[in-house]
Amino acid sequence: MNYDIANPELAEAGARRVEWAGRRMPVLQTVRERFREERPLEGHVVAACLHVTAETANLMLALRDGGAEPLLCASNPLSTQDDVAAALVADGIPVFAIRGEDSDTYYKHIHAVLDHAPAVTMDDGADLATVLHTERRDLEVIGSTEETTTGVIRLRAMASDGTLRVPVVAVNDSATKHLFDNHYGTGQSTLDGIIRASNILLAGQTMVVVGYGDCGRGVARRADGLGAHVVVVEVDPVRALTAVMDGFRVMTAADAAPLGDVFITVTGNKHVLRPEHFAVMKDGAILANSGHFDIEIDLASLYAESVARRAVRENLDEVELPDGRRLLIAAEGRLVNLGAAEGHPADVMDMSFSNQAMAAEYLIENRETLEPKIYTLPEEIDERVAAIKLAHMGGGLEQLTDDQKAYLAGWQEGTS
Ligand code: NAI
Repeated sequence: MNYDIANPELAEAGARRVEWAGRRMPVLQTVRERFREERPLEGHVVAACLHVTAETANLMLALRDGGAEPLLCASNPLSTQDDVAAALVADGIPVFAIRGEDSDTYYKHIHAVLDHAPAVTMDDGADLATVLHTERRDLEVIGSTEETTTGVIRLRAMASDGTLRVPVVAVNDSATKHLFDNHYGTGQSTLDGIIRASNILLAGQTMVVVGYGDCGRGVARRADGLGAHVVVVEVDPVRALTAVMDGFRVMTAADAAPLGDVFITVTGNKHVLRPEHFAVMKDGAILANSGHFDIEIDLASLYAESVARRAVRENLDEVELPDGRRLLIAAEGRLVNLGAAEGHPADVMDMSFSNQAMAAEYLIENRETLEPKIYTLPEEIDERVAAIKLAHMGGGLEQLTDDQKAYLAGWQEGTS
């Protein structure tokens, strides 16, 4: 078997983590049971470019139970859990990922999974899809799935300029993905990453959250819960107003820059913090990013201005500026929740990855009719995922009476 990982001897430790995560993924276990019986992915190679974590390992196992031949490479050079990669390889699933790999190795690994001529590709940030539309146009795939907001934005841009040549399921657009993973998952794990990188007490700190989308709202609410003074920076007036009504101060990045003790970017955009902001930040301010790429904080400009740079803790670099102020960068400006912590808890990836597994099934099942467009999974799948999760969390679901169904479907009753 072909693979490229850091250390196969870490397999036992990785297997324990995979098992632990699996225990907290009841929806995915339900999908696995059905997959074992129905084998909907039989004989298809599925190449995944996802964060190599214990939760992803459980998705790979689910795909294999469905009859697929899964392969995995990393969607971020800093998020790979080397022990999990080793556990998957020991279990017969090829992995091409090494934590901290350089850019050349990262792309070599992307090509390595594509060399297996996959029927379906799975992305978190559209890296496989981008290569399929550039250097590997020779490959024919049934379709692709996309996990995150940033990837979906890119793929929609490809669809609108006519470049997209494969059907794509935007898993991020499922309600049981973005309303939970982006909100609760990113909310908790981003703070987990900042705390692990710095060990600061968040209570009483001014925390500037740049971007108040699904992720930003989760981060802001959790920071608030830990006693931080949250300031929100937004470009969308409706979201900015929502932040005000949620009880946060909203201001421009320029006004927030001198106030923040901690900055977190979650916009999916580039250079939302840049030299004019660095120039007025406090000595000791911590800068972290939880948006997909490492370009939200303009680190190239910051490093170009700096007089010294050193690691002060694991995943925390200190950058000294000519006037003596020091800014601290968590996880090299890459996803802080995956670089400095373990990413989202399994409990929430349970739903995201159940959607991923069913997206692969959807592409294969409907391959004769799908066009090169962006698809969202049918609402029934969202409802099924939510209902199973709810039942596992001990929630009861009220049912409509026939009378209520008729009332909601009609218009005459109650109008006089
Ligand atoms: P979203 O589209 O719901 O929210 C992004 C917000 O940022 C929008 O409200 C937008 O108006 C705002 N924004 C854009 N440019 C801005 C600027 N210059 N200044 C201030 N605000 C600005 O997106 P979502 O789902 O919250 O995702 C945000 C990013 O996080 C994406 O890159 C996504 O891929 C990534 N993500 C990261 C995860 C993680 O594990 N860390 C998990 C899920 C998503």
